Amino acid sequence: MGILIKGGYLIDGKAKMGEAYDILIEGGKITSIGKDLSPGPDCENLIDATRKVVIPGLIDIHTHTREPGYEYKEDIRSVSAAAAAGGFTTICTMPNTRPVNDNRTVTEFIRSRAREAGIVTILPIGAITKGSQGVELAEIGELYDAGCMAISDDGRPVMNSEVMRRGMEYARGFDMLVISHCEDANLSSGGVMNEGIISTRLGLHGIPPAAEEVMVARDILLAEYTGCRLHLAHISTAGSVRIIREAKSRGIAVTAETAPHYFALTEEAVEGYDTNAKVNPPLRTSLDMAAVREGLRDGTIDLIATDHAPHALEEKELEFDQAPFGISGLETALSLTLGLVEDGIFSLEEAISRLTINPARVLGIDKGYLAVGVDADIAIIDLDDRWVVDPARFRSKGKNSPFAGWKVKGSVFMTLAGGRIVFSR
Ligand code: DOR
Repeated sequence: MGILIKGGYLIDGKAKMGEAYDILIEGGKITSIGKDLSPGPDCENLIDATRKVVIPGLIDIHTHTREPGYEYKEDIRSVSAAAAAGGFTTICTMPNTRPVNDNRTVTEFIRSRAREAGIVTILPIGAITKGSQGVELAEIGELYDAGCMAISDDGRPVMNSEVMRRGMEYARGFDMLVISHCEDANLSSGGVMNEGIISTRLGLHGIPPAAEEVMVARDILLAEYTGCRLHLAHISTAGSVRIIREAKSRGIAVTAETAPHYFALTEEAVEGYDTNAKVNPPLRTSLDMAAVREGLRDGTIDLIATDHAPHALEEKELEFDQAPFGISGLETALSLTLGLVEDGIFSLEEAISRLTINPARVLGIDKGYLAVGVDADIAIIDLDDRWVVDPARFRSKGKNSPFAGWKVKGSVFMTLAGGRIVFSR
């Protein structure tokens, strides 16, 4: 059975093609890219992509799937559907589930649930420490054998530098990526938003930028010492961008991500005590936002991740202090990233690379580009479509979005994963 995508304007994070082409898909793979391809006898589907843009399926290195343990917030099926609706064909799941993904059984459970859902590729990330408690290392070799290509205690920092050092040494032995949630828990303790004039006015306890930057610096030093591949999650401050830029200029194997809310919003979104704008690390100042944008432009920040963190409505309806941190991000990430193209930060090709080939390279997976022989993971997008963000229409169970009501441009028309249509508008 085959699919022929006709006449789409191809943009590929690796080798930009930038012209209208046809793509033939057979057996789940791209078998031909060219002009005027004709559907073979097995072609079951002809997709008209004229005036649309065909890109590699997006890759999210940072998704909270919530299953096992918090299925009321999200489960593997709903997160897969949300991913597909957002144009994502590969997502990496953070281990802060219940139980934490710190052993083979949990990893295998996630992988089998992902196969059952059968919508997008799910790559589980294992924990660095048992229960992500930061005390004792998890069975990192076992996690690797079970299929984890990265480890992280995301949601919590590894406060003990010696434990982090040992985790990095183990990871290096398996060439696993270490993803760091950079937060000094003493500096951030009790904080619920960025520390500054607005937190003071609102009477909310602040989290200083240094809570992130101290750990960015520490983990870069430890990565330099241990030689592990380090990836820094959800970068939010100008200071972090500066430290990473300096580390990269010295050739240290460090990569970094930010999330759309850090380049699209500032701490002002918290005014009115909107718990949908409560996220960790917190939304920062306009100077930080500008630095994050510049970091994305010049490559200091390698990629855009969603940090998709779905929560139940009743949890977010609590007082600001009590509500959980997190934003449901899979279904708005592409449009918000396209907003950076509108703002002149970078080209469309560069924007797409931050969501495709760059995360693929950091993960070390053979995805994120369009070529004959690769998995047919493809998003077809409509650049001119204008729409209003309505979380009630999200496929995700998490309706917690500070972007509700935003008018955005650019939408997902269709997503194919492994040659199957997994989302169609
Ligand atoms: O806002 C956040 N939510 N930041 C994190 O680091 C964890 C995440 C979650 O799991 O809800």
